[in-house]
Amino acid sequence: MKTRSKAKDGRRAISPSMNPKGALLAPSILSADFSRLGEELREVEAAGADWLHVDVMDGHFVPNLTVGPLVVQALKPWTRLPLDCHLMVSRPEDWIDAFVQAGADIITVHAEATVHLDRLLNRIRESGCRAGVSVNPGTSLAAIEEILDLVDLVLVMSVNPGFGGQKFIESALSKIERLAELRSSLTRQDGFLIEVDGGVNAENLGRLRRAGADVFVAGNAVFGTDDRRKAMAALRKALQ
Ligand code: DX5
Ligand code: ZN
Repeated sequence: MKTRSKAKDGRRAISPSMNPKGALLAPSILSADFSRLGEELREVEAAGADWLHVDVMDGHFVPNLTVGPLVVQALKPWTRLPLDCHLMVSRPEDWIDAFVQAGADIITVHAEATVHLDRLLNRIRESGCRAGVSVNPGTSLAAIEEILDLVDLVLVMSVNPGFGGQKFIESALSKIERLAELRSSLTRQDGFLIEVDGGVNAENLGRLRRAGADVFVAGNAVFGTDDRRKAMAALRKALQ
Protein backbone atom coordinates (compact mmCIF):
# COMPACT_ATOMS: atom_id res chain seq x y z
CA MET A 1 0.00 0.00 0.00
CA LYS A 2 1.37 3.43 -0.91
CA THR A 3 1.81 6.10 1.73
CA ARG A 4 -0.23 9.19 1.20
CA SER A 5 0.11 12.72 2.48
CA LYS A 6 -2.90 13.51 4.58
CA ALA A 7 -4.70 16.76 5.32
CA LYS A 8 -5.29 17.84 8.94
CA ASP A 9 -8.69 16.17 8.91
CA GLY A 10 -7.00 12.88 8.00
CA ARG A 11 -7.90 13.06 4.34
CA ARG A 12 -5.44 13.32 1.51
CA ALA A 13 -3.99 16.76 1.03
CA ILE A 14 -4.60 17.94 -2.49
CA SER A 15 -5.08 21.55 -1.60
CA PRO A 16 -4.96 24.27 -2.72
CA SER A 17 -7.03 22.78 -5.52
CA MET A 18 -10.02 21.95 -3.31
CA ASN A 19 -10.14 25.52 -2.05
CA PRO A 20 -9.49 27.43 -5.22
CA LYS A 21 -9.31 31.19 -5.42
CA GLY A 22 -10.43 30.95 -9.00
CA ALA A 23 -12.10 28.54 -11.36
CA LEU A 24 -10.48 25.20 -12.20
CA LEU A 25 -10.17 23.62 -15.63
CA ALA A 26 -10.33 19.83 -15.78
CA PRO A 27 -9.70 18.43 -19.27
CA SER A 28 -11.42 15.07 -19.76
CA ILE A 29 -9.18 12.42 -21.27
CA LEU A 30 -12.22 10.79 -22.87
CA SER A 31 -11.55 12.76 -26.05
CA ALA A 32 -7.74 12.39 -25.90
CA ASP A 33 -5.63 10.14 -28.10
CA PHE A 34 -5.78 6.86 -26.16
CA SER A 35 -2.65 5.52 -27.86
CA ARG A 36 -0.58 8.20 -26.11
CA LEU A 37 -2.50 9.14 -22.98
CA GLY A 38 0.55 9.90 -20.82
CA GLU A 39 1.84 12.47 -23.30
CA GLU A 40 -1.62 13.97 -23.64
CA LEU A 41 -1.69 14.47 -19.87
CA ARG A 42 1.67 16.22 -19.95
CA GLU A 43 0.54 18.50 -22.74
CA VAL A 44 -2.57 19.70 -20.96
CA GLU A 45 -0.71 20.03 -17.65
CA ALA A 46 1.82 22.27 -19.40
CA ALA A 47 -1.07 24.19 -20.96
CA GLY A 48 -2.46 25.05 -17.52
CA ALA A 49 -4.87 22.28 -16.57
CA ASP A 50 -5.77 22.23 -12.86
CA TRP A 51 -7.18 18.70 -12.60
CA LEU A 52 -7.36 15.74 -14.95
CA HIS A 53 -10.81 14.26 -15.39
CA VAL A 54 -10.97 10.50 -15.92
CA ASP A 55 -14.28 9.12 -17.18
CA VAL A 56 -14.91 5.57 -16.02
CA MET A 57 -17.78 3.81 -17.81
CA ASP A 58 -18.99 0.25 -17.34
CA GLY A 59 -21.32 -0.35 -20.30
CA HIS A 60 -24.17 -0.79 -17.79
CA PHE A 61 -24.80 2.49 -15.99
CA VAL A 62 -23.97 4.23 -19.28
CA PRO A 63 -23.93 2.85 -22.83
CA ASN A 64 -20.16 2.95 -23.26
CA LEU A 65 -17.02 1.26 -21.94
CA THR A 66 -13.84 3.13 -21.11
CA VAL A 67 -11.08 2.66 -18.56
CA GLY A 68 -10.64 1.24 -15.07
CA PRO A 69 -8.20 1.44 -12.16
CA LEU A 70 -5.33 -0.06 -14.15
CA VAL A 71 -5.29 2.95 -16.45
CA VAL A 72 -5.49 5.38 -13.51
CA GLN A 73 -2.50 3.60 -11.98
CA ALA A 74 -0.60 3.79 -15.26
CA LEU A 75 -1.33 7.51 -15.65
CA LYS A 76 -0.42 8.52 -12.10
CA PRO A 77 3.35 8.84 -12.69
CA TRP A 78 2.74 11.08 -15.72
CA THR A 79 1.30 14.01 -13.81
CA ARG A 80 1.33 15.92 -10.54
CA LEU A 81 -2.23 17.11 -11.03
CA PRO A 82 -5.12 15.62 -9.07
CA LEU A 83 -6.83 12.73 -10.85
CA ASP A 84 -10.54 13.47 -10.81
CA CYS A 85 -12.20 10.08 -11.31
CA HIS A 86 -15.81 10.21 -12.46
CA LEU A 87 -17.34 6.78 -11.92
CA MET A 88 -20.22 6.19 -14.30
CA VAL A 89 -20.71 2.65 -13.09
CA SER A 90 -23.42 0.64 -11.41
CA ARG A 91 -22.56 -0.48 -7.88
CA PRO A 92 -19.69 2.01 -7.49
CA GLU A 93 -19.17 0.60 -3.98
CA ASP A 94 -17.47 -2.41 -5.60
CA TRP A 95 -14.75 -0.21 -7.12
CA ILE A 96 -13.76 2.33 -4.47
CA ASP A 97 -10.82 0.40 -3.02
CA ALA A 98 -9.35 -0.29 -6.45
CA PHE A 99 -9.47 3.39 -7.46
CA VAL A 100 -8.03 4.53 -4.12
CA GLN A 101 -5.11 2.14 -4.53
CA ALA A 102 -4.65 3.16 -8.16
CA GLY A 103 -4.03 6.76 -7.05
CA ALA A 104 -7.34 8.55 -7.54
CA ASP A 105 -7.48 11.89 -5.71
CA ILE A 106 -11.15 12.66 -6.14
CA ILE A 107 -13.75 9.92 -6.56
CA THR A 108 -17.17 10.97 -7.78
CA VAL A 109 -20.09 8.54 -7.79
CA HIS A 110 -23.54 8.94 -9.27
CA ALA A 111 -26.48 9.37 -6.91
CA GLU A 112 -28.50 7.17 -9.31
CA ALA A 113 -26.01 4.30 -9.16
CA THR A 114 -26.12 3.29 -5.53
CA VAL A 115 -28.75 2.68 -2.89
CA HIS A 116 -26.55 3.59 0.09
CA LEU A 117 -25.15 6.95 -0.94
CA ASP A 118 -24.45 8.16 2.61
CA ARG A 119 -22.47 5.03 3.44
CA LEU A 120 -20.53 5.17 0.18
CA LEU A 121 -19.53 8.84 0.53
CA ASN A 122 -18.33 8.21 4.07
CA ARG A 123 -16.25 5.32 2.80
CA ILE A 124 -14.62 7.46 0.13
CA ARG A 125 -13.76 10.13 2.68
CA GLU A 126 -12.35 7.57 5.10
CA SER A 127 -10.13 6.24 2.32
CA GLY A 128 -8.31 9.58 2.15
CA CYS A 129 -9.79 10.62 -1.19
CA ARG A 130 -12.04 13.58 -1.77
CA ALA A 131 -15.67 12.55 -2.29
CA GLY A 132 -17.90 13.77 -5.09
CA VAL A 133 -21.48 13.06 -6.01
CA SER A 134 -22.96 13.49 -9.47
CA VAL A 135 -26.49 13.90 -10.80
CA ASN A 136 -27.69 13.20 -14.33
CA PRO A 137 -29.68 15.88 -16.16
CA GLY A 138 -32.94 14.09 -15.31
CA THR A 139 -32.19 13.80 -11.60
CA SER A 140 -33.45 16.39 -9.15
CA LEU A 141 -31.15 18.04 -6.61
CA ALA A 142 -33.51 16.60 -4.01
CA ALA A 143 -31.67 13.29 -4.50
CA ILE A 144 -28.53 14.74 -2.92
CA GLU A 145 -29.83 17.36 -0.47
CA GLU A 146 -29.48 15.07 2.53
CA ILE A 147 -25.82 14.24 1.90
CA LEU A 148 -24.43 17.67 0.96
CA ASP A 149 -22.52 17.84 4.23
CA LEU A 150 -20.57 14.71 3.20
CA VAL A 151 -19.21 15.85 -0.14
CA ASP A 152 -16.24 17.86 -1.31
CA LEU A 153 -17.75 18.23 -4.74
CA VAL A 154 -21.04 18.05 -6.63
CA LEU A 155 -20.76 17.22 -10.31
CA VAL A 156 -23.68 18.50 -12.35
CA MET A 157 -24.04 16.59 -15.61
CA SER A 158 -24.88 18.90 -18.49
CA VAL A 159 -25.23 16.01 -20.96
CA ASN A 160 -26.57 12.51 -20.51
CA PRO A 161 -23.37 10.68 -19.60
CA GLY A 162 -21.74 8.15 -21.89
CA PHE A 163 -20.03 10.07 -24.66
CA GLY A 164 -17.86 13.08 -25.33
CA GLY A 165 -18.79 15.79 -27.79
CA GLN A 166 -22.50 16.04 -26.95
CA LYS A 167 -24.57 19.22 -26.91
CA PHE A 168 -24.81 21.16 -23.65
CA ILE A 169 -28.23 20.84 -21.97
CA GLU A 170 -29.28 24.39 -20.98
CA SER A 171 -31.26 23.37 -17.88
CA ALA A 172 -27.91 22.64 -16.18
CA LEU A 173 -27.48 26.39 -15.74
CA SER A 174 -30.48 26.85 -13.47
CA LYS A 175 -29.60 23.63 -11.65
CA ILE A 176 -26.16 25.06 -10.85
CA GLU A 177 -27.76 28.32 -9.68
CA ARG A 178 -30.07 26.39 -7.35
CA LEU A 179 -27.19 24.27 -6.07
CA ALA A 180 -25.12 27.39 -5.37
CA GLU A 181 -28.06 28.80 -3.39
CA LEU A 182 -28.29 25.57 -1.41
CA ARG A 183 -24.57 25.77 -0.73
CA SER A 184 -24.80 29.27 0.63
CA SER A 185 -27.55 28.18 3.01
CA LEU A 186 -25.44 25.36 4.49
CA THR A 187 -23.97 25.85 7.94
CA ARG A 188 -20.66 24.15 7.14
CA GLN A 189 -17.86 26.59 6.49
CA ASP A 190 -15.84 24.78 3.82
CA GLY A 191 -18.77 24.13 1.48
CA PHE A 192 -18.20 22.04 -1.63
CA LEU A 193 -17.10 22.68 -5.16
CA ILE A 194 -19.58 22.71 -8.02
CA GLU A 195 -18.28 20.95 -11.12
CA VAL A 196 -20.00 20.93 -14.49
CA ASP A 197 -19.46 18.23 -17.09
CA GLY A 198 -20.67 17.87 -20.67
CA GLY A 199 -20.68 20.20 -23.63
CA VAL A 200 -18.63 22.84 -21.80
CA ASN A 201 -16.90 25.25 -24.17
CA ALA A 202 -15.61 28.81 -24.46
CA GLU A 203 -19.09 29.98 -25.41
CA ASN A 204 -20.97 28.78 -22.31
CA LEU A 205 -18.17 28.86 -19.73
CA GLY A 206 -18.73 32.45 -18.59
CA ARG A 207 -22.42 31.82 -17.96
CA LEU A 208 -21.62 28.64 -16.02
CA ARG A 209 -19.12 30.49 -13.87
CA ARG A 210 -21.64 33.23 -13.11
CA ALA A 211 -24.23 30.58 -12.23
CA GLY A 212 -21.86 29.31 -9.52
CA ALA A 213 -19.71 26.54 -11.04
CA ASP A 214 -16.08 26.25 -9.85
CA VAL A 215 -14.69 23.32 -11.85
CA PHE A 216 -15.15 22.95 -15.60
CA VAL A 217 -14.70 19.61 -17.33
CA ALA A 218 -13.90 19.92 -21.01
CA GLY A 219 -13.27 16.98 -23.32
CA ASN A 220 -13.98 17.88 -26.88
CA ALA A 221 -13.22 21.58 -26.36
CA VAL A 222 -9.62 20.65 -25.45
CA PHE A 223 -8.77 17.34 -27.10
CA GLY A 224 -10.98 17.83 -30.12
CA THR A 225 -8.60 20.53 -31.38
CA ASP A 226 -5.07 20.29 -32.79
CA ASP A 227 -3.59 22.82 -30.41
CA ARG A 228 -4.24 21.96 -26.75
CA ARG A 229 -2.42 25.08 -25.55
CA LYS A 230 -4.60 27.35 -27.65
CA ALA A 231 -7.76 25.51 -26.58
CA MET A 232 -6.89 25.82 -22.88
CA ALA A 233 -6.07 29.51 -23.32
CA ALA A 234 -9.46 30.12 -24.97
CA LEU A 235 -11.24 28.44 -22.04
CA ARG A 236 -9.22 30.40 -19.47
CA LYS A 237 -9.98 33.64 -21.30
CA ALA A 238 -13.69 32.84 -21.35
CA LEU A 239 -13.60 32.66 -17.55
CA GLN A 240 -12.46 36.25 -17.18
C1 DX5 B 1 -19.59 12.35 -20.46
C2 DX5 B 1 -18.36 12.50 -19.62
C3 DX5 B 1 -17.67 13.77 -19.83
C4 DX5 B 1 -17.15 13.97 -21.22
C5 DX5 B 1 -17.25 15.43 -21.51
O1 DX5 B 1 -20.29 11.24 -20.11
O2 DX5 B 1 -18.67 12.40 -18.25
O3 DX5 B 1 -16.63 13.99 -18.87
O4 DX5 B 1 -15.81 13.57 -21.39
O5 DX5 B 1 -16.89 15.61 -22.82
P1 DX5 B 1 -17.32 16.91 -23.64
O6 DX5 B 1 -16.65 18.06 -22.97
O7 DX5 B 1 -16.78 16.62 -25.00
O8 DX5 B 1 -18.80 16.99 -23.57
ZN1 ZN C 1 -17.07 13.07 -16.75
